[in-house]
Amino acid sequence: MPRATICLLGGTGFVGRHLAARLAQRDYNVKILTRAPERHYDLVVLPTVTLVEADVQNAAVLTREFAGCKAVINLVGILNERGHRGLGFHQAHVELAGKVIAACRAAGATRLLHMSALNAARDAPSHYLRTKAEAAERVLAAGELRATVFEPSVIFGPGDSFTTRFTRLLRRTPGILPLACANARFAPAWVGDVAEALLRSLDDRTSFGHRYQLCGARSYTLRELLRYLVRLEGLHRLVIGLPRRLSWLQAALMEWLPGKPFSLDNYRSLQVDNVCSHNGFAAFGIEPMVLEAVVPTYLGRFTAQAELDKYRRMRGVAP
Ligand SMILES: NC(=O)c1ccc[n+]([C@@H]2O[C@H](COP(=O)([O-])OP(=O)(O)OC[C@H]3O[C@@H](n4cnc5c(N)ncnc54)[C@H](OP(=O)(O)O)[C@@H]3O)[C@@H](O)[C@H]2O)c1
Repeated sequence: MPRATICLLGGTGFVGRHLAARLAQRDYNVKILTRAPERHYDLVVLPTVTLVEADVQNAAVLTREFAGCKAVINLVGILNERGHRGLGFHQAHVELAGKVIAACRAAGATRLLHMSALNAARDAPSHYLRTKAEAAERVLAAGELRATVFEPSVIFGPGDSFTTRFTRLLRRTPGILPLACANARFAPAWVGDVAEALLRSLDDRTSFGHRYQLCGARSYTLRELLRYLVRLEGLHRLVIGLPRRLSWLQAALMEWLPGKPFSLDNYRSLQVDNVCSHNGFAAFGIEPMVLEAVVPTYLGRFTAQAELDKYRRMRGVAP
């Protein structure tokens, strides 16, 4: 029997890469639509994965690419927009969801997985969360597409923009790290568990029309997580939580830096604890991994890379 094809939007990102690898392992053809295939050629070393250059905001292109796919998975999401008024979020989340729905209908695709975010709600404090909520509502309202929506807390794993990014920041920061929103609470989910939940849901009829919150085994404040990373890296850093007003000020200033490393919209998202009221992993028979069991495999002093760097330094070859 010919392999089924799964069409991934946002498949070149952090979650998408892990999911594509798992889908390929289970013998699916994986078609990743991307704006810039030349930046992601490493992905085609995965057997059965192809990259297709596509403007995902073009409904006609989507319709053409969705034809013949067993399922469409939309992972596109942005944490920050170029402007400041929410239009970028609306376009990347709500408008795109509308185009994906229309293209699924036109192409006859009848299974849609959609990635939203924990705390997405119409009355949430940030553009990110409000537009995520609107997009998810649209997707679930398209009943004939047998959609499933996933709402993860922050996701961690190699290549993430959470543990990896904060570790890089800690390495570069001398002495003291002033941390905004230090008491914000998260239940980080391992990317492998998230990818597995999506994969298992594909043929799971009980998941059609439902949304699932996805949380890791434990919850932590941001301060606790950073202090854990400091210990893991063997660094001498003091992590100091900023009071509310200074957190706001840090966000207000940093949103004008290139690449917007932190923004007022991020600050607003962090005003709501990122922990689940029910854990959707159970519905897929997944017991979520404990963060401390996974992070030392890719960060810290005892990873294979850290050992290699140590020997390079001993030989006078700077890593
Ligand atoms: N990572 C987390 O902690 C986390 C937590 C909760 C929810 N989520 C959600 O999970 C999904 C995947 O997250 P991720 O961390 O894998 O994201 P990511 O690494 O930033 O990847 C997102 C992908 O979407 C595409 N994309 C980005 N902006 C786009 C735009 N304006 N128009 C069209 N395509 C665009 C990019 O693909 P190309 O450049 O190849 O086109 C990119 O590779 C997102 O929807 C995110 O909101 C993530």
